[in-house]
Amino acid sequence: MRPAKDFFAPLAVGAPTPPRDIPARPSRAIHFFDPSNEKMAAKIPGMVGTVDVLLGNLEDAIKADNKEAARQGLVRIAKETDGLGSSGPTQLWTRINALDSPWVLDDLVTLVSEIGDKLDVIMVPKVQGAEDIHYVDRLLAQLEAKAGLQKPLLVHAILETARGVANIEEICAASPRMQGLSLGPADLAADRRMKTTRVGGGHPGYLVRQDPVGGDITGDRTIYQQDLWHYTIARMVDACAMHGIYPYYGPFGDIADVVACEDQFRNAFLLGCVGAWSLHPKQIEIANRVFSPSVQDIKHAREVVAAMGDGTGAVMLNGKMEDDASLKQCLVLVQLAEQLAAIDPKLKEQYDAIEVSA
Ligand code: GLV
Ligand code: MG
Repeated sequence: MRPAKDFFAPLAVGAPTPPRDIPARPSRAIHFFDPSNEKMAAKIPGMVGTVDVLLGNLEDAIKADNKEAARQGLVRIAKETDGLGSSGPTQLWTRINALDSPWVLDDLVTLVSEIGDKLDVIMVPKVQGAEDIHYVDRLLAQLEAKAGLQKPLLVHAILETARGVANIEEICAASPRMQGLSLGPADLAADRRMKTTRVGGGHPGYLVRQDPVGGDITGDRTIYQQDLWHYTIARMVDACAMHGIYPYYGPFGDIADVVACEDQFRNAFLLGCVGAWSLHPKQIEIANRVFSPSVQDIKHAREVVAAMGDGTGAVMLNGKMEDDASLKQCLVLVQLAEQLAAIDPKLKEQYDAIEVSA
């Protein structure tokens, strides 16, 4: 294990110093696009400013024959699109191929050398343990040094193997570059031998049932569908919070079911996630709405902040007890609202219009 004092030393001579803190940049929707698909690529310039993150996908969903074209397409899009990546309004991320694939080495070498100054975050799929992050960490440092980059690239791991879930804390702790984790429900379901064939979301068979009324087991009994992903998302949230990085719900494959998608995103938001993947433009709108605190919540939060004065003691507000701890809960929302208002003028207008009763 590296001594603590060396943890923030660059892993290659001339590489930028690894970050001490991961900035809380809004990333409510991570919108996936296929850079080898010319129709999709043509839409990218028009999406800048409308979505927090655009992610050029090189891994699953890109056919083996198109891997090269996707990589080259991403390089071209990054170079030609104004306002995309690094300091622009919309971050640029990529999902590279898996570390055991024949494509990943060229993905990293090409992307860091050609567009390393534009890329914000590199998403690494199917991460199994700290050793995967260590491999990427060192390679990125070597490539950053070679390319003369000033800003270190950040790394995001997809949680999509049973071993990855078992090693979740060591993955988060493996490098100061770690930016966050996403749930990968499809691969994770397969790896765990779960029996759902859906990409994220619930399953009608995963339920609890009301007790029989009057002993009649065949009578009407309300059933409550349960969340298959609750355990994993909760683990992910704790591991990320502990390490100062960010948790995300991943993909919701039933594009037509915008209602269930919103439910899944909202559950993730309430549990502590900061965003979700978007596989279709209509999921961007859902994520932007769900991962932004509501006007009502911000009004309440600001009232608690105002009523709590120096932040100690307890007060009664609208019949409810508020104290030091509930103030902290409210500050989570207030701070998130401030970060979002800084990049989303419509939201800023809504938050600015809130009147707080004294
Ligand atoms: C995402 O990559 C998933 O496997 O769900
Ligand atoms: Mg996957």
